Amino acid sequence: MSALRVGVVGVNYAAGTHLPVYRALAEEGVVELVAVATAHRDTADAIAEKFGVPHAHVGYEALCADPDVDLVDVATRPSLHRPMAEAAFAGGKDVLCEAPLAPSVADGIALIDAAAAAGRSGLVDMQSRFWPGLQELHRLVGDGFVGRVDNISVTAFYPTFTTDAAIRSSGWCAAAEHGASSLRVHGLHTADLLRWLFGELTDVRGSAARREPLWGGHLPADSVDSAAWTARTPDGAVCSVHSSWVARFGAGWRMVVHGSEGMLLAEAAGHTGHFPVRLSGARAGDDGPRELVAPDGAATEPFTRLIRHLAAGRTAEIPTFADGLAALRIAEAIELCG
Ligand SMILES: NC(=O)c1ccc[n+]([C@@H]2O[C@H](COP(=O)([O-])OP(=O)(O)OC[C@H]3O[C@@H](n4cnc5c(N)ncnc54)[C@H](O)[C@@H]3O)[C@@H](O)[C@H]2O)c1
Repeated sequence: MSALRVGVVGVNYAAGTHLPVYRALAEEGVVELVAVATAHRDTADAIAEKFGVPHAHVGYEALCADPDVDLVDVATRPSLHRPMAEAAFAGGKDVLCEAPLAPSVADGIALIDAAAAAGRSGLVDMQSRFWPGLQELHRLVGDGFVGRVDNISVTAFYPTFTTDAAIRSSGWCAAAEHGASSLRVHGLHTADLLRWLFGELTDVRGSAARREPLWGGHLPADSVDSAAWTARTPDGAVCSVHSSWVARFGAGWRMVVHGSEGMLLAEAAGHTGHFPVRLSGARAGDDGPRELVAPDGAATEPFTRLIRHLAAGRTAEIPTFADGLAALRIAEAIELCG
């Protein structure tokens, strides 16, 4: 089978996370990194030279029309995803879109329609599912390790936008108009994990707030930075989620699952997209939780696993545009509560 030929649009976040993965997988013959596109000639050429990419395009339109590209990796801010993904579909390409899928539910629906009309596949980089610790959590929940799931609690407290480095590289997240927020970026990975682990959530209610008006003391911010919400699983278990990306002493991500026969605890030192997940658990009769999966792997490990699945045609485990839309619906439901 010939290698999947990838073109990447946007090389800010992707330069440190997607491009090194594609380059490493290209050395194994898993993918071919054939094209990059940015908004400017100098950045397109510089990144193409750095990663040895044959085609450097200015503007997504050129990359989406490039006959050597099979898959367009849309790695720009959410407000740009829809025109870029639509152009890719029009060019006959499949799309792997960064998360969140789109800035609104309406745009998410339009993207699902565009993929269907073009007969192409639309996937979302909600890569957290691919950590070994979370794959094992998924298996154990399905196998009844905890018995009847009763109560799930998640906290996701990250110090991201209290640091100058993050404000410099991703300061656009401060403006809600670009489609990002604590709820929609990091929080959305948690929403995706909850749906994947326990089924479609219902009764979503919550509160979303903008607490830090000036990031780093200088950047005006109007996107949601703090959220608290609850929901029910299809089996009737209750779950709660607290998230923030301006928690100065935020210690990371933690999910606790309590059931009739046991408990499972998944923890990461930061955003689940990039920080390895430790899984612990205990069943009735045990003295207490023991480690089941050690936190191991580079920050790009889950994205690497996702791309290996994609290149091998094992797409069933990869979040789709429908998953991206479902996560957006959760975010919008919480925001509507005020
Ligand atoms: N999955 C995760 O864990 C995770 C983590 C962080 C960020 N993200 C997501 O990654 C995405 C990218 O974030 P970012 O900070 O790099 O965004 P960004 O807005 O800084 O992206 C900038 C890049 O987009 C390019 N670009 C802009 N307009 C273009 C055009 N018309 N044609 C071609 N290129 C164009 C720019 O040249 C630049 O390379 C966002 O959707 C964000 O939510 C995901």
